[in-house]
Amino acid sequence: MSEILALKYRPHDFESVVGQTETVRQISGALKKGSLGHALIFAGTRGCGKTTTARIVARHLNPELSDAELGMVVMEVDAASNTGVDNVRELIDNIRYSTKGHKVIILDEAHMLSKNAFNALLKTLEEPPPGVTFILSTTEPHKLLPTVRSRCQLYEFKDVDVDTLVEHYRKVSKEEGLDLADEVLHDIAIRAEGSVRDGLTILQKHLSGEEVESNASTYFELVSALYQGDVATSLALVSELRKKEDARVIIQTLEKWFYWCSLENFGSRTPARQHFPEGQNLVFDLTHLQNLFNICLDVERNFAATPNSKSVLEMGIISLCL
Ligand SMILES: Nc1ncnc2c1ncn2[C@@H]1O[C@H](COP(=O)(O)OP(=O)(O)O)[C@@H](O)[C@H]1O
Ligand SMILES: [Mg+2]
Repeated sequence: MSEILALKYRPHDFESVVGQTETVRQISGALKKGSLGHALIFAGTRGCGKTTTARIVARHLNPELSDAELGMVVMEVDAASNTGVDNVRELIDNIRYSTKGHKVIILDEAHMLSKNAFNALLKTLEEPPPGVTFILSTTEPHKLLPTVRSRCQLYEFKDVDVDTLVEHYRKVSKEEGLDLADEVLHDIAIRAEGSVRDGLTILQKHLSGEEVESNASTYFELVSALYQGDVATSLALVSELRKKEDARVIIQTLEKWFYWCSLENFGSRTPARQHFPEGQNLVFDLTHLQNLFNICLDVERNFAATPNSKSVLEMGIISLCL
């Protein structure tokens, strides 16, 4: 299999964009009403559907064009490598030529434009020529000038949640003829960290038979250490995990494990099962698991309160052991 999965599985309609239900609903609703602005910001993590959705918008704005003609009216500009004011002037000149169809200019990594380039763009953003829509795509909307933000409609794309990613990767791997275990799919989804594309890249390695490293056994040890209240071991394992994963992802994964362990009490077979010795009857203290789960939810909320995710994570690990 040589085709790149992320390209092969790029959605071509709103219904196929996963994990962005509300945002996509707003955008398609605005399109239907004809109230979609002429300057939009699509903000969100890498690989979560911004460019994909921008192209679908372009498709809807140009129902009469063939795919080839559509390619002519959609311009994707990588702002990261065209940061200067001259690049923007050239772009503005270009869009004044009238062609068949509604032009859609996708400015990728828009926050990378220089201040001068932005200023050159301001007037055009405020009043784009008829038949032109700008879509500024960015992972860091706070870096856009306030004057730019105030001229655009903002659409936020979310980090796609683990369950949605698991289902998406299950579907893709089935279509590719591979039946991956829940645990493997979950591990991929966790490591995707909210980015559909990043997970597809990992999935691609599985499909081509490459060795893929998994953190599942480290999580198993961590969950056991936390359950037993072993602070030193827990902190050591967390510092190991942090080399590969984001603090938030670690807490979200722990939540999942405590949930799985609770279900095991009732005889469900969860992805946690394969880490326990074969034939062992899994009985946990449900109240304890419930507490651990709730503490994780608190820790997750604390991430929003301070930029120092390391201290939030470590203090959280200590509370989990108390
Ligand atoms: N929300 C999503 N639903 C389905 N596939 C997605 C989604 N987001 C990203 N992808 C996959 O990742 C690839 C890259 O997505 P893209 O929209 O270019 O990301 P970005 O947000 O960085 O612009 C797509 O071709 C598609 O395969
Ligand atoms: Mg993009």
